[in-house]
Amino acid sequence: MADEIFASPRLAAIYDALDPHRDDLDAYVDLAGEFGARSVLDVGCGTGTLAVMLAARGIDAVGVDPAGASLDVARTKPGSERVRWIQGTAAALPELSVDLAVMTANVAQVFLTDEDFTLSLRGIRAALRPCGRLVFEIRDPERQAWLGWNREQTFTSTVIDGVGRVDAWCDLLSVEADLVSFRWSHAFATDGQVVTSDSTLRFRDRAAVMECLDASGFVLEDVREAPDRPGRELVFIATIRGGHGA
Ligand SMILES: C[S@@+](CC[C@H](N)C(=O)[O-])C[C@H]1O[C@@H](n2cnc3c(N)ncnc32)[C@H](O)[C@@H]1O
Repeated sequence: MADEIFASPRLAAIYDALDPHRDDLDAYVDLAGEFGARSVLDVGCGTGTLAVMLAARGIDAVGVDPAGASLDVARTKPGSERVRWIQGTAAALPELSVDLAVMTANVAQVFLTDEDFTLSLRGIRAALRPCGRLVFEIRDPERQAWLGWNREQTFTSTVIDGVGRVDAWCDLLSVEADLVSFRWSHAFATDGQVVTSDSTLRFRDRAAVMECLDASGFVLEDVREAPDRPGRELVFIATIRGGHGA
């Protein structure tokens, strides 16, 4: 089940306004070009910004996400009618045959157990053409990003059209081995309601990711930096074992 921050209609509606600078997605558009992808599956597409960007460039885009409220936001975007939206999970995709699958904004960290990650990666592999590629990012655990996940360093106050002022901040709840739990709070000035959303993410290191890729039938092609977040992210590029690119 998706976290409230993606699944609650009230929170999904403000997701883009609270994170309007999506330079991170430009790198994925560039990768689609670099790999000559004509069809792209955006796994964990959320409010669909990347899928709509890709479709506007003539790419056959499919966005999948378990959070219906986020998909409802995606469907309101200009050009969204060119995207195929699927409510579902990476592990249970319908029959697809795409050139490239991506997971942006650290979606790969939502898979908490290796079993869940491996089943999800296998689902994605089945949705790829034999010569297809998977690209996804994770936060580099060595950077310990969670050290900055406190009210002081995350507080924002944003006035959103039709919504009013929303104050938002993150509190770290726990760090247990490589599982990090945190809470986003959103205070709506119009009615004084504070809507919270708790999440847990897994901070796998490079070796742990490679084990899951291997167990899912992928071969690592490259690990790069995220151009917009140098030194903070690991961007994995994988091909299908035995496929054209392996
Ligand atoms: C941090 S958001 C990223 C959304 C979007 N990719 C972006 O760049 O804004 C993580 C997304 O992963 C989705 N998600 C959670 N579990 C999932 C699963 N099992 N399969 C696919 N997506 C999942 C959530 O619903 C959420 O929309």
